[in-house]
Amino acid sequence: MMLPKLTPLADANSAFNELNPAPRLLMGPGPINADPRVLKAMSTQLLGQFDPQFRLMMRETMALYRAFFQTKNDWTLVLDGTARSAIEMVMMSVIEKGDKVLVCSFGRFGQLLDEIAQRCGADVRVIHTDWGTVFDLAQIEAALKDFSPQLVATCQGDTSTTMLQPLAGLGELCHRYGAMLQVDATASCGGTPLPVDAWQIDAVTAGLQKCLAGPSGAAPVTLSSIMAEAIYKRRHIEDGLQTAGYVPGSGSRIASNYMDVAMIMDYWSDAGLNHHTEATTMLYGARECARIFVQEGLQNVYARHAAASKAVVAGVQGMNLRVYGEVANKMPNVTGVYIPEGINGEKVRSALLNDFNIEIGTSFGPLHGKVWRIGAMGYNARQDAVLQTLSALEIVLAAEGHKFTRGAGVDAAYEAYKN
Ligand SMILES: Cc1ncc(COP(=O)(O)O)c(C=O)c1O
Repeated sequence: MMLPKLTPLADANSAFNELNPAPRLLMGPGPINADPRVLKAMSTQLLGQFDPQFRLMMRETMALYRAFFQTKNDWTLVLDGTARSAIEMVMMSVIEKGDKVLVCSFGRFGQLLDEIAQRCGADVRVIHTDWGTVFDLAQIEAALKDFSPQLVATCQGDTSTTMLQPLAGLGELCHRYGAMLQVDATASCGGTPLPVDAWQIDAVTAGLQKCLAGPSGAAPVTLSSIMAEAIYKRRHIEDGLQTAGYVPGSGSRIASNYMDVAMIMDYWSDAGLNHHTEATTMLYGARECARIFVQEGLQNVYARHAAASKAVVAGVQGMNLRVYGEVANKMPNVTGVYIPEGINGEKVRSALLNDFNIEIGTSFGPLHGKVWRIGAMGYNARQDAVLQTLSALEIVLAAEGHKFTRGAGVDAAYEAYKN
């Protein structure tokens, strides 16, 4: 097989230029612009990962994410890696070869859950619902009855379709059938309620780069006691770190060292196992993301995202554009918008980027070339960012010959913010 192509630098000296990115406004499905407070926290000088000051910061970060996830789970921590690494770490650590995993897939990231579970050696069954829709609990219950999985995995928000799976009652349902529930909330958490304990979710994984207003590269996670125990019973400490009296867990050894959440729990615990070298700068960032969120107040942040969603929907509809999927089930932080007939979607995105420094998203798979995704989340879930984006979109669409009443979209969004 041919290796992929790599374009050489046009100017070999450009690598010596100071970084100077354009001041983009990132209004796609994520990443978005980080809150300046997060960037400031991330420029703080490093500490050793076992420095008592740093250990305190870790415990503070756990406390902040317990508030963020509305949970009392002891095992609420931040994993080093992007959001998918956290999905994989949890699955790798809990799934033993041949375990049955039910995946509820309503988009590309449901497909990712399926793929990761398969790579972990699970016997996977996937239930699908059309892109642009979500499951009702009866569909999931039928599969639980028929398949009797140990684990159910779903996204809360699937960024590819912009849909938000209602999760109230799902954890209780899974437990009734003897399954644990793992939720990928990367795209949605922080933009919409996710009361982990009330909804009885056993594992939630996330990322910073969406509603948490940080960069990608650290993954907040919370594990219920059932999930933490299921993982910890597979604890096998690496050879070079074992101490006298060490007794391995009764479960099979986790197949990856880096992704071994049992050892990572030992690192975060008072035992302070010297597993990986902590990404201290990312932890500073993750801590600040949660601190901003909790200081603003969960309900206020959700309301800010809901207001942005209402304004974006009103704005695009005012421009004679159609919203993709079931609007009642869409994520508040991302809106799918059909590219109108006769308009070149990529040309519009390029004009927004080059002439206005605004990025909006394209789509994957069956929606590619048909739907744009406009995000308003985290630091960018602000009236000024939303109105600026819609104004620019109006100008570009008019230039491309789309038929609509000039000003109607931005006026409708402005109005939505006023009401
Ligand atoms: C729903 C969802 N899950 C998982 C991921 C993967 O996250 P990451 O790119 O941080 O690994 C994304 C990224 O956009 C996502 O939207």
